[in-house]
Amino acid sequence: MFGLRPADQILRRRAADLVDRLHVARHLRPGGLYVDIGSGTGHNSVRMARAAVGLRARFVCVEPVSRPTPRVLRYMRKRTDGGMQFVRALGDRLPLRDGQVDGVSIFFVLHHIPYEIQQRVLDEVRRVLRPGGCLFLWEDTPEDEREFLVNETWDRRLNFEAKSEPHFYRSGDHWAALLTGQGFDQVERAYYEDNSKRRGEGLVRHTGFVMRYGNAGG
Ligand SMILES: C[S@@+](CC[C@H](N)C(=O)[O-])C[C@H]1O[C@@H](n2cnc3c(N)ncnc32)[C@H](O)[C@@H]1O
Repeated sequence: MFGLRPADQILRRRAADLVDRLHVARHLRPGGLYVDIGSGTGHNSVRMARAAVGLRARFVCVEPVSRPTPRVLRYMRKRTDGGMQFVRALGDRLPLRDGQVDGVSIFFVLHHIPYEIQQRVLDEVRRVLRPGGCLFLWEDTPEDEREFLVNETWDRRLNFEAKSEPHFYRSGDHWAALLTGQGFDQVERAYYEDNSKRRGEGLVRHTGFVMRYGNAGG
């Protein structure tokens, strides 16, 4: 239990940084329904929910494998401002109705799944988002072959992955082009670098987006 505390603190600080850099609070609306796909242990979902305090917004964490940490569970149980729940499901089969959702967050999930399944997840996101709803996306975004390898080394270490685990990265510009081609408009773009540079391993580049879907009036 004690061994988990430093990791928990690092993840909490990282979640705060990621949510703040995207100015998430600006894009949340009162009474909204928000979904975090691939929420892992839930640190980012909690930070998103904290950004919505006072809005009575609801949060659903969708995750097929991991469980919330005890701290995240305590927060979920205590949260009276709109509620928060954890659902065991896959991002390409969301247990939600069409156009029901005000925002979807997907932080560092898509590069772990093959490109064709990434597309199925994005199709689900478009299905559940209401017009004018937002996608909050953070991805590992290497720009060339060298950065790809550094990202992969970092990813494997961070997630305790086997050497055979494949990754499906895209550059930041590639994500922007893909999403704008599928009905999203970019409203925020942010950057985050892991500290591998200090270890002499080169840059691990991450890009975050807030993408508004469809026509808010439509
Ligand atoms: C690197 S972790 C990121 C967790 C969390 N979003 C974060 O930023 O700390 C990737 C997560 O994606 C989840 N995942 C993998 N495939 C998925 C899928 N098809 N649908 C939803 N989640 C998935 C994994 O179980 C894992 O918890």
